[in-house]
Amino acid sequence: MNSLFKDSIRKILDLDGKVAIVTGGAVGIGEAIAYRLAELNAKVLITDVDAENGKKTANKITDNGGIAEFKIVDVSDLNMVRDSVVYCVEQFKKVDILVNNAGIFPMRPIWDIDQELWDRVMDINLKGSFFYAKEVAKMMKSNQIGGKIINIASIDAFHPTGSLIHYDSSKGGMIMMTKALALELAPFKINVNAIAPGGVSTPGADEVQSIAKQQMEKAGMQEQAIQDAFTARIPFGRMGQPDEIARAVIFLATDLCSYVTGETIIVDGGYLLS
Ligand SMILES: NC(=O)c1ccc[n+]([C@@H]2O[C@H](COP(=O)([O-])OP(=O)(O)OC[C@H]3O[C@@H](n4cnc5c(N)ncnc54)[C@H](O)[C@@H]3O)[C@@H](O)[C@H]2O)c1
Repeated sequence: MNSLFKDSIRKILDLDGKVAIVTGGAVGIGEAIAYRLAELNAKVLITDVDAENGKKTANKITDNGGIAEFKIVDVSDLNMVRDSVVYCVEQFKKVDILVNNAGIFPMRPIWDIDQELWDRVMDINLKGSFFYAKEVAKMMKSNQIGGKIINIASIDAFHPTGSLIHYDSSKGGMIMMTKALALELAPFKINVNAIAPGGVSTPGADEVQSIAKQQMEKAGMQEQAIQDAFTARIPFGRMGQPDEIARAVIFLATDLCSYVTGETIIVDGGYLLS
């Protein structure tokens, strides 16, 4: 092979021998990310508060010939975060890839966001991601293995949806945290990048949409008009699918992404262009 192309593209995509943690991997975007990483031969530890669906997803992966385990972790509980990284190292020897995906988006107007809700959103979306990154980076640094950290942010970091001030602030913070982590961790060969999804059909997004739908129905809108209103601003004319986020994660989790760090990939069907 031409020496300019040391490894084949297939070898670069192969995650055999790599270990990944996916937070919030029980359903939705996290489930798709865990599935695709395992399909490329990574061993995957799924962490989530939802044990039933977390175990189901891990089983789905093993039924497909992959290697996955589930561990119950609330990312806002720093002891659980630390213990899960230790557990991953005990089970699989190391962590090469961390995907900070767990997040909540409880829609509330400004007047209904109290301190408790603000803290909860920040603790799960931002604080949990920072401490997961710190624990994993500590291990990557001491083992001198380098690695990839991927933060799932949101287009809400760039454009507010409405009734999500706490969420939008947490995701804006996540994008700056990605840059700051990338700068400090580059000497240890750790790439830190983010993905900003637009509207993606997941159990979490469906819940938000059904509330919005009820409000529109109350206002007298017809089914088709409601559907059109959801997709009106998306140039691709549809919501995204979890796997479309997972595919971008694959770029950031493999050595396809060897020289990119501190960046955010927007995956939104063109929403922010319109
Ligand atoms: N779906 C979208 O339209 C969309 C758009 C932009 C960004 N995102 C982001 O993508 C990520 C995944 O979203 P989704 O739509 O798949 O959500 P989802 O609600 O469908 O799934 C989220 C998962 O995170 C888990 N989780 C919640 N709180 C947790 C905690 N404290 N600790 C551990 N796990 C926890 C849930 O149990 C669930 O399995 C989130 O960070 C979200 O903000 C989603």
